[in-house]
Amino acid sequence: MTHQTKGHSRQDTALIHGLSASEVQRLSETCIEAKGRAYCPYSHFRVGCSLLLTNGTVVQGANVENAAYPVATCAERVTVATAVVQGAKKGDIRAIAVATDISPPASPCGMCRQFLREFCELEMPVLMYDKDGKSTFMTLGQLLPMSFGPEKLLSTEDIQHAGQRRSIATSPRLRQQAAAAPAGEQAQHDVAPPTHYELFPQTFPDGAPPASPFTPDLRQLRKEFLQLQAKAHPDLMPANQKRHAEGLSSLINEAYRTLQDPLKRAQYLLLQHGIDVEDESSKLSGGELLMEVMEAREAVEEAENEEDLSLLKAENGERIAESVGVLDLAFANGEWEAAAREAIRLRYWKNIEESIQGWEKGKGGGAIHH
Ligand code: THU
Repeated sequence: MTHQTKGHSRQDTALIHGLSASEVQRLSETCIEAKGRAYCPYSHFRVGCSLLLTNGTVVQGANVENAAYPVATCAERVTVATAVVQGAKKGDIRAIAVATDISPPASPCGMCRQFLREFCELEMPVLMYDKDGKSTFMTLGQLLPMSFGPEKLLSTEDIQHAGQRRSIATSPRLRQQAAAAPAGEQAQHDVAPPTHYELFPQTFPDGAPPASPFTPDLRQLRKEFLQLQAKAHPDLMPANQKRHAEGLSSLINEAYRTLQDPLKRAQYLLLQHGIDVEDESSKLSGGELLMEVMEAREAVEEAENEEDLSLLKAENGERIAESVGVLDLAFANGEWEAAAREAIRLRYWKNIEESIQGWEKGKGGGAIHH
């Protein structure tokens, strides 16, 4: 159902989708005001947007165009993305309002509807204002029927079992829904899959580096891993939740494998910042490093006895420790490029470590992969 209002005339008494008259008023004023911030020299089509968060904050945005036309970003996505990077989680957005200079009011484009779907409930109202401030209201579910959302990929149930995801803990609405909904219905209110760090909230209460140190307390990590695995064990789950439990169990395994190993952990963190160490290695590894690696490799190949090998092992252990120290500093300071360079070095030392282990197993120095 859509609700038509004439300007603000009916809003003194209106209560639309749980919004008070003054909240509607605030949304209309802020989205119309945001129109003035549009950067639209190509289309001259101004779109202003504002959204209201559960904590009472209003976030504004407008369309931002580009000389390469398709690169333009709509007002709605600018606004929601702004709220998300400021910390808003699914369930935190109570309503969104859009204003244009045309009549009847424009509605969010298809891409924006899908973008909203990721962070907003289907019941969330979308308020659309025309050139004179007249409005039409529809819920997101009405604008995007039969939609595809994050719960299709991973259920809230999984995430809740995995441990205290912050969005659920801090959003009063989600907390209420989680408490009220029977287990099978919780999948309706899903959020994006948790990161490895979010799966281990006791070990990483502040989240990923740089907020937390790069090197975690490994005993604590192991303890939390065992607790999580015990809770998520598929054998403990009723038949209808076994599949979820299996998925969650492998997610926890993968996160633990990654977090307890400095190289894997560094690679994971760097990937999260868009740096693929595998990609970077060819352009970043300098001649000096390669010389050092070649020499270390030859030394392993030439080792004649256990004694030679234990020396090499100690030497390589020092290289690894030094490398991890450099990574500790780089991540603490948010120096991603420096961390990437060091991760490449560490990868070589880990490779040599494997080669030493290969020798020990009687293979006489394993293959070194670059
Ligand atoms: N635009 C929006 O900001 N939101 C929409 O939902 C539809 C279109 C912008 C994009 C572009 O800058 C201009 O309007 C014309 O398409």
